Amino acid sequence: MASWKTPYVWMDGGLKPFEEANINLLTHTLHYGLGIFEGTRAYEQTSGGSAIFRLDDHLRRLKGSALAINIQLPDSFDAIRQGSLDLVEANGIATCYLRHIAWIGDGVMGLNPKDNPIRFAILSWPWGAYLGKDGLENGVRCKVSSYVRPFPNSTMTKAKVTGNYVNSILAKREVVGMGYDEAIMLDTNGYLAECSGENLFVVRDNILRTPALTSVLAGITRDTVTQIAHDLGYEVQQTIMTRDEMFFADEVFMTGTAAEVTPVREVDDRPIGTGTAGPVTKHIQQVYFAAIRGELPQYADWLSPVALKEAKAS
Ligand SMILES: Cc1ncc(COP(=O)(O)O)c(C=O)c1O
Repeated sequence: MASWKTPYVWMDGGLKPFEEANINLLTHTLHYGLGIFEGTRAYEQTSGGSAIFRLDDHLRRLKGSALAINIQLPDSFDAIRQGSLDLVEANGIATCYLRHIAWIGDGVMGLNPKDNPIRFAILSWPWGAYLGKDGLENGVRCKVSSYVRPFPNSTMTKAKVTGNYVNSILAKREVVGMGYDEAIMLDTNGYLAECSGENLFVVRDNILRTPALTSVLAGITRDTVTQIAHDLGYEVQQTIMTRDEMFFADEVFMTGTAAEVTPVREVDDRPIGTGTAGPVTKHIQQVYFAAIRGELPQYADWLSPVALKEAKAS
C-alpha cells in the first residue's frame, strides 16, 4: 500500500514538516470545490539523481488554471518552481509524484469569496503504475461511462479545477464497480473526449488520432506523446472522433502523468486490435520511458534535475 505521507510538504512559501501543514474546516474550497491543482512526476535518472518531468509546462498550466478561475497564486512562478525542486530533494524520493494545489482559504462562506486568502502547497508521494504494472504492460479494460464530460461553458474544461473531478470520480466509480479498470467519457455532443484522468489515442494504419481539445484537458503527456510520435515518423491528427472509431482501430492507448502511456486492450467488452498492447503503443512507451529517465539527450529540456543526497528509487 502506498504511503501518501512524506516527511515534508512545501506550504506558505517554504518547506514544513507534514504534520504541521494543516488547514481548517472553514476552508472555502473544501465546501465548494473551487481550487486548482497539478500532477507532475519526478523520475530517478539512469545517470543518477532525480529530475522533474516537464515542470515548467505543468507550472504554466497551473498559471492558466489560476487565471481561468480568477485567483491570484500567493507565490511566484519562480518560488513554486524552486519549491518543487526543494521538496523532491528534502523528501529524498527520486521517483515520486508531485501535487501542486491552490485553494481558497477561510473567510466568508458564501459563493463570492473575493477576500478569502488563496493558499498554496506542494506535496509529493511515491506512486507506481497508476493502473497497475500489468495494465502498463498488457493493457487495461475500459468502459464508456454514462457520465459525460461537462459542456465547455459549464466549467473551465482546460483548467485543472478540483471540483471538475467530481465528474471524473463518478465515471471512474461507475465502471470500476462493474469490473473495468478505467472510464472513457464522451462529450455533450456524443464525441469521444478522454478518460477520467487521461487523454486517449486511437491508432489505425500507423496514424495516431486523438480527440480535439474541446471539453478535454490539454494533457502534457498527450503533448509529449505527440512530439515523440512525430519524431518517430508517425502522423498525429487531432480531430473530432466517434466512440466506434475505437472498434475499427489497431490500437488504443491512454496518456497521463499518473497513467503514463497505458495500452487499452478492451473497450465495452470488445477486444481492441489483438487484445493486448500493440506495436505502436509499445514503440511510444519505450521512447517515453527512456525520455523520462534522461536516456535521450534530444529530450533533456523536459527534465529539471534534482541532486539527491541519498537517492531512494521510491
Ligand atoms: C481529465 C484529465 N485528462 C487528461 C489528463 C492527462 O494530463 P497530463 O498528461 O497533463 O497529466 C489528466 C491528468 O492530469 C486529467 O485529469
